[in-house]
Order: sequence, then structure tokens, then C-alpha cells
Amino acid sequence: MNYTKALDHKIFEIISKAAQELQLESYVIGGFVRDFLLQRDFKKDIDIVAVGSGIDLALKVSELLPNKPKVQVFKNYGTAMLRYKEMDIEFVGARKESYSENSRNPQVEDGTLEDDQNRRDFTINALAFSLNPHNFGDLVDPFDGLADLKNKLIKTPLNPDITYSDDPLRMMRAIRFATQLHFTIEANSLKAIADNKDRIKIISGERIVDELNKILETPKPSIGFLHLYQTGLLDIILPELTALNNVEEMEGHTHKNNFYHTLEVVDNICPNTDNVWLRWAALLHDIGKAPTKRFHKKQGWTFHGHEFLGGKMVKKIFERLHMPLNQKMKFVQKMVMMSSRPIVLAQDIVTDSAVRRLVFDAGEDVDHLMTLCEADITTKNPKKFEKYHKNFEIVRRKIVEVEERDHIRNFQPPITGEEIMSLFNLQPSREIGVLKEAVKEAILEGEIPNEYQAAYDFVLTKAEKMGLKKVAN
Ligand code: CTP
Repeated sequence: MNYTKALDHKIFEIISKAAQELQLESYVIGGFVRDFLLQRDFKKDIDIVAVGSGIDLALKVSELLPNKPKVQVFKNYGTAMLRYKEMDIEFVGARKESYSENSRNPQVEDGTLEDDQNRRDFTINALAFSLNPHNFGDLVDPFDGLADLKNKLIKTPLNPDITYSDDPLRMMRAIRFATQLHFTIEANSLKAIADNKDRIKIISGERIVDELNKILETPKPSIGFLHLYQTGLLDIILPELTALNNVEEMEGHTHKNNFYHTLEVVDNICPNTDNVWLRWAALLHDIGKAPTKRFHKKQGWTFHGHEFLGGKMVKKIFERLHMPLNQKMKFVQKMVMMSSRPIVLAQDIVTDSAVRRLVFDAGEDVDHLMTLCEADITTKNPKKFEKYHKNFEIVRRKIVEVEERDHIRNFQPPITGEEIMSLFNLQPSREIGVLKEAVKEAILEGEIPNEYQAAYDFVLTKAEKMGLKKVAN
């Protein structure tokens, strides 16, 4: 088959010309080819293999381009990269590689195109289109990757033990592609992942998290997490999650399996948010349940304080996996810590003051919190399911009402500490704190509106009761 139509972008003509001038062969390989054949969106990352120096080819391509874009050269890896019209084009010389036991850094030798295809991760990623004039657009497919694309199979070009052991990140990539593309991982490959799972320990947290994020960004992340679980990788990467996979029975009381529940919550939240951090919150919302689980004769199974402990565990996980420890982590932590609040509120009559407190505590993130809590409803009892959702609708409606009236989100006290100090001629003191807190409480409880005059009058009355005297003005 000829795929010239895949290569109608000007850049391919220029690369082809540059390669001819250098008397090299060149090919597009990897994701661009795979995604074209799968009719996925046009890929902005393009990988080019040169049979010869990839760096020389990149420099020549840049010379031929109108504005001569800057070429980034990675000498140690023999690769180079340039940006052209929002595309990242990476050039590499075809190579043979062998990896050592405890590092991902390969020893590299020059090789043929087929050597290069051999050392790639999957047959569907080893497909190449020729950019050479005599067979421009021809598919070069030595491992029948085209059949694997049709049969939706993730398969390695070499013995999977070698491919995964060479670069253990590929175990995560196999699972990520299976999740993104709804492909099956070939049985030998799956077994090899399980056999080589411990080698994931040589991969950096950042790279593992890149793959986890890609899994979480799919419409059905549970596919990936089940694979990670079944191969034993999850136990190494996120043991806090596998610890949730059990159901115990005591005196006729059982509790739900919180691992499978968690995966359901993650899948549930996907249609309602693209925010990967909220998806992380869904993934981690119950991790405090394993360490807090207790059995009481009267209450049955309890998980007291699991939200608080879960929040602390979030920080440890982010540290361990070298994830950002900034606002993103704080957001996930806050969602986990508050994850039971709306449901507790919705189990009873939904009062305005309870809603005001929720908005006060969740601030800007209250809508995200509601989305998480709605996804958390996995009960198979249709009556309960309906009741909780109805109550959450009420909560959502009240959030809007309370917001319009009381402006609790990003709460700023209507009367400042400085003003209270000058009213009573006080220095910073315990009394000021008490008065400020009393104003906030009165607003949240709905005793006074969130307005200056009401707060001023309230402070005067309260202060008088405390024996404070207003100074004459
Ligand atoms: N590759 C590999 N082993 C890896 C990473 C990448 O063999 N651990 C090869 C594959 O041939 C892959 C190509 O390098 O197709 C480019 O890798 P990358 O850009 O990371 O992935 P893509 O396949 O392009 O897909 P995506 O952008 O969806 O990650």
C-alpha cells in the first residue's frame, strides 16, 4: 500500500529533499504513522528516522525551512529536534541498541531501518512511511503491525521479555495504549509484564506519572488500572490503592470493596470533568480507608477520620512519585479531605447554613467537590441512588442561591480586624479574634447578612456583652 496522502504536509517534502542532499534514507515512524492508520487526530509530534546521522538531517532540514528554526541537539542520544508550525519534529539516526540491567540508558550502535524498528516498543509503533523518492509513501512494516492495528493488539516486535526489560517504562506504555485505544495486550506480553514488574523500580516517578496521567485522561481509566493491578505493577506504584482491595466479614457485617468502588468512581467522573487533578482526587478519595478500618460490635465497620488521613497520604504519594507539590497537590488533598462533606449534608434536610459552611470551606472548588461526590454514588440500590442524586441537586441549587445572596465564596469579612481594633481602641488581642470569629459564625449561621452595617451593629452588641467600650469618635 502507498500512503502518499498521509504525507501531503510540506514538511515531509522538505525532509525528503534534505535527506537526498545528504544521500541518506529517511522515514516517518511511530505515533504519526500509527495514528494516521487509526484515523486519529493529526499528530503534532513527528518522529523521523535517518539511516545515518539524525542530527545532520535536522540541521539540513532547518536550512531548507523559510525561517531556519533553531535545532536542539542532544549529542549523547544522537537525536535532534526542531519546531515548525507547532509541530515538534524529532530526528534520530537508525540504531541498534542494547540496554544494561539497571539503567534505561542504552549502548548505541548505528544500524539499519530494520534494526531500529526491532528495538521499538510495539509492532504498531514500529510502522514507518518512506520519505525516499523511489518509494515515497510506502509502508515499511516488517512485523505486520498493520494486522495488529486491525486486530487491536499490543504486541512487541521482539520477545516481550527483552523489550520490557530493555526499557521497563514500556510496561506502563503497553497498558496506557491498551486503555487509550481499547486494544488487547497479547497474552505473552501481559505475562512478561507481570514477570518483569519489579524492573519498574528503575523508572523515575515523573515518567510513571506521565503514563498514569494519560490513563486518567481516557474516558475509561479503569481499563488501565485493572491491568496495572493484574500485572502487579499497581502494588509497586500505588500500594495505597491495592490495600483497598478486600472485603471482610465480622459477625455478619461486611463492607464494600473500596478498590473496585474507587475504579467505578474514577470512570463515573470522566464524562463530567477533563480536569486530570479532579480525576486524581477520585482515584485517591478513599485511600485513608485501609489504615482507618475498624470493626465495632455496635456500629459494624467504620473508617473514622479516613478523609483526614487520606489527605495526608496524598502528600506522601505526590512526594514519592515526584509529582508537583504546589496548588495541584493542595487541590487533590482538599478534595480528599472534604470528600464526605456533601453526602453527610445531603443525608439530612439540606439547610442554608450547612450549604454556606460547605461553600465557605470549599471556596472556589465547591463545584469540583460536588462533581466528585456525585461520582462517588455507586450504590446499586436504585432508591438510594435516586435519593442521593436528588439531594445533591438541592445542594447545587442552594449553592447558587446562597452565593447570590451571601457571597460566601472567597469570603472576606465585611468588617476588618483593623476597624474593630480602632472602634474599641484595642491592640491585636484575643478579643479581636473572638469578635471576628463571631461575625463569621453569625453570617454562616444566617443570623446576619454578609453586609457591612449588619456586621458593624453585630460587633457593637457582642462587644458590649464582652464588657468592651466603644471609643467616642
Ligand atoms: N518508543 C519506544 N519505547 C519507548 C518510547 C518510545 O520504542 N519507551 C518509540 C516508539 O516507536 C514510539 C516512538 O518511539 O512510537 C515515539 O515515542 P513517543 O513520542 O513517546 O510516543 P508515540 O508513540 O508517538 O505516542 P504518544 O504521543 O501517544 O505517546
